[in-house]
Amino acid sequence: MLDINKIREKFPSLNLKDSNGNDIIYLDGPGGTQVPSNVINGISNYYKKYNANTHGEFITSIETDRIMGELRSKAASLLGAEDGKCISIGQNMTSLNFSLARCLSKIFNEGDELIISELDHEANRGPWKTLEDIGVKIIEIELMPNGELDYDDFSKKINDKTVMVAVGMSSNALGTMNKIDRIRDIVIKYKCLFLLDAVHYAPHFSIDVKKLDCDFLLCSAYKFYGPHMSFLYSRPGLLDKLDTDRLIVQDQNAPYRIETGTLNHAACHGVSKAIDFISELGIGTNYREKIIDSYKKLSHHEFTLASQLFEGLNKLKNIQIIGPDFSSRKRTPTVSFIHKSKSANEICRELARHNICAWDGHFYALKAIQKLGLEKKGGVTRLGISVYNQSYEIDKTIKALSEI
Ligand SMILES: Cc1ncc(COP(=O)(O)O)c(C=O)c1O
Repeated sequence: MLDINKIREKFPSLNLKDSNGNDIIYLDGPGGTQVPSNVINGISNYYKKYNANTHGEFITSIETDRIMGELRSKAASLLGAEDGKCISIGQNMTSLNFSLARCLSKIFNEGDELIISELDHEANRGPWKTLEDIGVKIIEIELMPNGELDYDDFSKKINDKTVMVAVGMSSNALGTMNKIDRIRDIVIKYKCLFLLDAVHYAPHFSIDVKKLDCDFLLCSAYKFYGPHMSFLYSRPGLLDKLDTDRLIVQDQNAPYRIETGTLNHAACHGVSKAIDFISELGIGTNYREKIIDSYKKLSHHEFTLASQLFEGLNKLKNIQIIGPDFSSRKRTPTVSFIHKSKSANEICRELARHNICAWDGHFYALKAIQKLGLEKKGGVTRLGISVYNQSYEIDKTIKALSEI
């Protein structure tokens, strides 16, 4: 069991009040979580103690090299990867995915087929669609009205021409947990690359890239208590074979091969601290074990609150929840809904009057929102649970919604 009060003490922003002295309720986690003190201090300490560029002979540069290496190995532990050589760093998931698409465009050919999904964030659709310019056919796994992917449709669409399957592990718009094991079992029958967008999954569940048997996996630290920074896992040996955009003067090997220019070292230090924050919530004999244990506790807490939220919303007759239910954990702790007469934006404005932070719209999962016929309604209102949320916050939110 997690001691949520103790955890909350670690987040300075949870003490913020409005001008009347009222608390703020953060249910905007899927757009980016709040950040604990150890992350904030890590970033500021970097500038106080270590600030330099990399690969110098002097103390601050040596420290910076150490900090960057430390992040890669901590990120490898977070994802269950072999080592830090599998972890490339980028400013966000979108730009890393565009870089990947560009280098893969050099090995794909006209007539090749690449599968994406209708449910995914545009960051895992747009980069792949650019390959249409070289004649790659982009095929989409259909989204069903219940908010889940159509796996039969996927089985029918994959074939010997498929060069890559790029899907999300879970939906940032609907919270749907995709059946990745099912997809993987089909993918491995074909000689194609397998890429996973774990941006909405990584804040809530542990990841094991070896079990997932994926070639690439991407996630963004600002969704799991860190700064705005992302990383890419590549299967050992794979990145070295790709003709990435890079300068002749930089390190030509993985993981650096797909990184460009000077990285945000302070933020990278912050990401290490965010992974520390997660690991410190768990127990175990090593860093990875602690991370896995932490995620078990984290997901239990989040699932309990999300179920409370789901049940509370289900009782409100003006509200319709969009996407799967919570049975057999088909959903992350993210609940999206529409209101009978108010737009998603109006609902967010009402919630904001109660100091409840929530997002509305399509959250860049535009295709999914269009497919469900919700674009004209302004998309959905999305409430996401993070580790620092508490039961009374859910009660307050349900009450505020019931009064609309
Ligand atoms: C599922 C998913 N994929 C990709 C992205 C894009 O991530 P980034 O903002 O790091 O580019 C997001 C951002 O919200 C997301 O939720």
